[in-house]
Amino acid sequence: MGYAERMKARHDADAKRGGPIDILAIESSCDETAAAVVRDGRVLLSSVVASQMASHQRFGGVVPEVASRAHTEQVTRVVAQALTEADKELGDLQAIAVTHAPGLIGALFVGVTAAKSLALATGLPLIGVHHLAGHIAASALSSDIEPPYLALVVSGGHTELLSVRGHGDFVRLGRTRDDAAGEALDKIARALGLGYPGGPLIEQAAREGDAHAISLPVAKVSTGQWDFSFSGLKSAALLHMDKERRALREVNVADMAASFQEAVVEALVLHTDSALAHTGLRQLVVAGGVAANGRLRDRLTELCALRGVRLIVPDLWLCTDNAAMIGAAAYPRYCKGQFDDLTLTAQATLSLEQWL
Ligand code: KG4
Ligand code: ZN
Repeated sequence: MGYAERMKARHDADAKRGGPIDILAIESSCDETAAAVVRDGRVLLSSVVASQMASHQRFGGVVPEVASRAHTEQVTRVVAQALTEADKELGDLQAIAVTHAPGLIGALFVGVTAAKSLALATGLPLIGVHHLAGHIAASALSSDIEPPYLALVVSGGHTELLSVRGHGDFVRLGRTRDDAAGEALDKIARALGLGYPGGPLIEQAAREGDAHAISLPVAKVSTGQWDFSFSGLKSAALLHMDKERRALREVNVADMAASFQEAVVEALVLHTDSALAHTGLRQLVVAGGVAANGRLRDRLTELCALRGVRLIVPDLWLCTDNAAMIGAAAYPRYCKGQFDDLTLTAQATLSLEQWL
């Protein structure tokens, strides 16, 4: 029997048997090597995240080759640990899921190759998952949310507003035209000498600063047009720092961190508010690494209270990259029998709409 027949036979046998669906998921799109076992798309049996932060810190950002190498070193150990912690063996599982796009191509290849090898060895169905669908699905692990809802995905690589009409049914309302929100925070943190990753360090520094001390461009939004842009804001902040240094004045790190964070948060809140008003959606899911930001959470909590909208922000550790969210996103695909085969490959860029 070839892989395709074994996969189908396995799926049919599991469907006949009934019982829970346990999916092993692998994530390696950026700088975390992660594996998890997720039951029925909602229950976490295990989740292991090996961060490479220390390897990238001295370069002030993620170095793709360093990431690929670290994934290769970690992936087998991380998968083995996720199985052990879930008290499962490969034969107990129902499917293998993996992030196959978008992300750093060399990093993605490591996870995809590991997942395909496991699928080939076991005959388990293989499910390639879009990284952003994973971030959004993190909400299913923290709450009983069901579509329809508005999703704000804010990470180091993406800033998108999506209308989620059903499981795996996304319409993109807006995205960043240049930098992602997290990327802008990381760049300003680096310029301020705060280190990497910048988002949490900016948040920490901002606590001591005045968010109105430095005037930065204010975000504008018009209904029906929810694209973001952070490069103008970033340039204005860099220009201000440059001017201060040339005048031999010290840049006030706390004030800059607070003002910049406030400007980024303001842009995210304004766009989200406008999209909620326009779509009439009554639920908002916020996902991605920047969703860990306390100021953004507070502002969105206020906004949702005012609008009578239910707000779902995944637990902090589920906001940053992990494999549990990939297992959650794979589950609706498993239920629909939408599997990939061994030709699955990694893609550096892919929109959510293209994935479906
Ligand atoms: O989702 P994620 O872990 O990786 C990507 O898919 O990009 O997001 C990482 C991003 C980084 O830019 C990081 O600076 C940002 O999320 N981030 C934060 C916070 N924690 C992580 N940004 C603002 N405040 C935070 N507390
Ligand atoms: Zn991510």
